[in-house]
Amino acid sequence: MDLGIDLGTTYTAVAAVDDGNHPLLPFLDTEGDSHDQLPSVTAAVDGSLVHGFEARQAMADGAPGVRSVKRLLAEPGAGPSTLVHIADMEIPLVDVWADFLRHVIDCIDVPGPHRAVLGVPTHSHTGQRLVTMDAARQAGIEVLGLVNEPSAAGLEFALRHARNLNSKRTRVIIYDLGGGTFDASLVNMAGQSPEVLDSVGLNDLGGDDFDEVLADLAASHLGQMTVARADLVEACRLAKESLRPQSRNLLVDLDTTTLRIPVSEVATACQPLIDRTIEAMAPLSSLLSSTDSDVAGIHLVGGATSLPLVPRRLRELFGRRVHRSPNPTSATAIGLAIAADADTLGIRDRLSRGFGVFRETESGRGIGFDVLIDQSTRLSGTTTITRKYRCRHNIGVFRFVEFSRTDPNGAPVGDLIPFATVVFPFDEVLQDHNAELDADHVEVHEIDNGHIIEETYTIFETGMVTATITDVDTGWSTTATMGRPTTSTAMGRA
Ligand SMILES: Nc1ncnc2c1ncn2[C@@H]1O[C@H](COP(=O)(O)OP(=O)(O)OP(=O)(O)O)[C@@H](O)[C@H]1O
Ligand SMILES: [Mg+2]
Repeated sequence: MDLGIDLGTTYTAVAAVDDGNHPLLPFLDTEGDSHDQLPSVTAAVDGSLVHGFEARQAMADGAPGVRSVKRLLAEPGAGPSTLVHIADMEIPLVDVWADFLRHVIDCIDVPGPHRAVLGVPTHSHTGQRLVTMDAARQAGIEVLGLVNEPSAAGLEFALRHARNLNSKRTRVIIYDLGGGTFDASLVNMAGQSPEVLDSVGLNDLGGDDFDEVLADLAASHLGQMTVARADLVEACRLAKESLRPQSRNLLVDLDTTTLRIPVSEVATACQPLIDRTIEAMAPLSSLLSSTDSDVAGIHLVGGATSLPLVPRRLRELFGRRVHRSPNPTSATAIGLAIAADADTLGIRDRLSRGFGVFRETESGRGIGFDVLIDQSTRLSGTTTITRKYRCRHNIGVFRFVEFSRTDPNGAPVGDLIPFATVVFPFDEVLQDHNAELDADHVEVHEIDNGHIIEETYTIFETGMVTATITDVDTGWSTTATMGRPTTSTAMGRA
């Protein structure tokens, strides 16, 4: 089944491609209740990893765990070899995520093979994109592509508000207030596929901060009573999530009592947080002010925009151009499923793409991206490119991808579509043994006096690429022919 997978910092959501529809897939909690999202949490129980609701329960009971693998991955320099510490275990981040994704697939319980488009934050660095791709592959998921989260939300907006987008109104602002972060992005919907033009954000503001502010407010209503801070914050989160537009009070359910806090007090406490997002978004929202603005509106996504105060405050300032997704927690996952759905929009076929390869840098400590050909050069007939260097490792792992866009330094910033992974033995002994090498299970280490390696790429107008990697010293050589994703071939568009 084809899927859109949104790996959020706090929650993970999955939507499926089902005959032109993009339904959310449910997750059952430890009580057997159904939810649209799975907590993005991993814990260690008796020396093995558990995930999601089970992990959240285990951590509440005192088990060690990690809440924000995605945040660890966002650190500059994080990559495939970054280690996560859980209890006394040290596990490569990519393996933790692969295990988490295996759990996601188990939970959704839909027939395989599983293929997916995954979301990545707009500002993801090269290593972050590679780890996301590798983790999914390790989990047995065929990666159809990586799409920037706001682009996916833009697709969801386009599906619901087709009337708001037209030849004059081609751009939309995605306001994404999640659990731990806020992002506002200007997305161009006019091109072949949605593209993030500009993006601003606050890495330290999300729904969790509302819980803290509400806990402070609740504490001032407690009088003589004392309640553990963590319990108060959790009670406030639940209370916040049950607020409805017509609610008059926030009902904070504690063991011994229920606090009733008037919504007007809640609004006063929360407004500074909302105003920080509005201030951060100003460079983008200023585009709305001219009468002939080409911005169709502000689309609200992310769980924290379910808080009625958020759309209310934004509408005070921007009126009817504020559109809230009916599924704020899952809009990104739905948009990713739309991107995975070649039948709906043909996004995958319409990307005009460049071709590149991820390479290890700094002796394997970093990850770089080598643009073999960019999208403009690619259109002009058959092209041949070569690379020649002395290898520094026993094995070379080449992950080839198509990309929609790179930044001025050549780092991939747009959508990514994996083409192929080629594992090449630089070590003569491995070559002699004709060893079968699997990208996920090879021991890569540095060597002295590596051989001279030559890579030759022939890129055809049709989108086919032939890669030949040769060890010039021994003559050992591998040739891979890579094509467009099989689905589009089957559909006769290749
Ligand atoms: N009905 C609701 N009312 C208010 N807040 C809600 C509601 N449902 C979820 N939230 C809040 O939304 C936040 C989680 O949002 P979301 O699922 O979009 O986060 P995420 O994508 O995992 O995180 P991030 O975007 O920071 O990576 C939490 O703070 C949660 O309390
Ligand atoms: Mg999110």
